[in-house]
Amino acid sequence: MWKFANPIKHALLPTRWPTAAEAEFSLLFQPVTVGPLALESRTWVPAMVPWRATEDGFVTQDNIDWYRRFAEGQPGALVVEATGVRDIPSGPLLRIGDHRFIPGLKKLVEAVREASGGDTKLFIQIIDFLAVKRRPDPAKFFQRFLQTTDRHQRALAEVTGDASWITAAESEVREFLSRQPDDVIDRVLDERELESLRFGYRERVTDTHLDHIRELPQVLPGIFAEAAARAREAGFDGVELHYAHAYTMAGFLSALNDRSDGYGGPRENRSRLPLEVYRAVRERVGDDYVVGVRFLGDEVISGGNRIDDAVYFGVEFAKAGFDYLSISKGGKFEDAEQPKVGAAAYPYTGKSGYECMPTTLSDTRGPFGRSVPLVRQIKQAVNAAGFLTPIVATGGSTTFDQAESILEDGDADIIGMARQALADPDWFRKVKSGRGEEVRRCTYTNYCEALDQAHRQVTCKLWDRKELDEAGITMAADGRRRLLPPHWKDNQDSK
Ligand SMILES: Cc1cc2nc3c(=O)[nH]c(=O)nc-3n(C[C@H](O)[C@H](O)[C@H](O)COP(=O)(O)O)c2cc1C
Ligand code: SF4
Repeated sequence: MWKFANPIKHALLPTRWPTAAEAEFSLLFQPVTVGPLALESRTWVPAMVPWRATEDGFVTQDNIDWYRRFAEGQPGALVVEATGVRDIPSGPLLRIGDHRFIPGLKKLVEAVREASGGDTKLFIQIIDFLAVKRRPDPAKFFQRFLQTTDRHQRALAEVTGDASWITAAESEVREFLSRQPDDVIDRVLDERELESLRFGYRERVTDTHLDHIRELPQVLPGIFAEAAARAREAGFDGVELHYAHAYTMAGFLSALNDRSDGYGGPRENRSRLPLEVYRAVRERVGDDYVVGVRFLGDEVISGGNRIDDAVYFGVEFAKAGFDYLSISKGGKFEDAEQPKVGAAAYPYTGKSGYECMPTTLSDTRGPFGRSVPLVRQIKQAVNAAGFLTPIVATGGSTTFDQAESILEDGDADIIGMARQALADPDWFRKVKSGRGEEVRRCTYTNYCEALDQAHRQVTCKLWDRKELDEAGITMAADGRRRLLPPHWKDNQDSK
């Protein structure tokens, strides 16, 4: 995991909690309009993958229980985890690429409605991603995966000074390469082959030599549109198009996208497919349905998008008609750590990953509200262009005062809390009822994120070993952790 050179261990923000009366009149607990909907408050739980779907992408009872538990806390909006738009195997991640996924998703929607008394609006984040393979065993890589060509043979002849490599049999080349030290391999393989060897093969939107990548602009609008229509059919209040982090649509937006087919290069071209996808979705679901977007305020990678790109995209997205803009940061493959052999790279292990989910081991700025300056700039530009599209700020938001001052300063319209809501899904109800001192405060040390990285069921260290003898609780596959936080005993007597 990436760390600052001389990290500073930050304490949690000192705070006080509002009385119920103060909370009632606060900005945070005022309604906000999101497209055709009104949220009861400006509180928001952004998408978090909990690794609870079946291997083939169906909703499980554990998924339903997870979202029901968040809904009990009654945030203004809850966004269901990144859900695949295609009908292809993708492990235990939710999918919405076919009608057969709708019944499970419907049950999830019903559970959230029931648990929140209808007070929490429910959106679903829909995502497309490209292939990412595990880091191979080097012997297998040279035996099976490397496609040997004349280029390798010529390079080998040059490196070894032995011209016979030019005409050598492929099997000999593979066998020889598998025994060579890094400095030889570095000179024989090209950059992408080295990446495949040392990190695992990973597709990019710029791999236009591959038919299915070249054709993404032709196929994705329809695929996203159908997925969005299924979301509507399942009863979600809206869809969030996932244009953030390490996935296909963020790849199109990225300054690293130099496709020469009109979908790469200048910003107008990079935003072309994201806007075409939006229009196809909008046409399919109609104007009376929430369509939001999540994208990056900064990619935090060398050569990647910076805030001026994000400002441009924010204005274009607002102009196009998105109902909300949810801003995230970083979370890219380009600076990910090298995975172990047999594991896949994880896009939250480099500096960009740190910026996506900052911890208390930080620089002088600390982890709290770190993305607010980016959100502010996007909001100012969107508003200056004449749009009131609500903007969600997420990243290290944890206390009432902090959230309230972001809203008071006009830096954002809605406050997203991911890990704080995971640590305590009842944050919203507790704070609103003047019982903020009962909040279980996230420590921002990313135990949950490590579980996500290991593709294990996500839980929080503050509650997953508590009250394990409680009747009726479900346990993680490892048998040691409860999957959901204990219920808040919210009657006054229990205080
Ligand atoms: C376990 C876990 C899973 C996440 N999954 C997603 C996801 O599916 N989609 C997404 O856009 N962000 C995802 N995120 C990022 C969060 O939505 C959020 O942007 C990030 O945690 C920073 O906000 P916070 O400081 O309030 O936690 C995930 C975060 C965590 C901790
Ligand atoms: S595991 Fe740690 S970082 Fe994650 S929600 Fe719990 S306290 Fe916060």
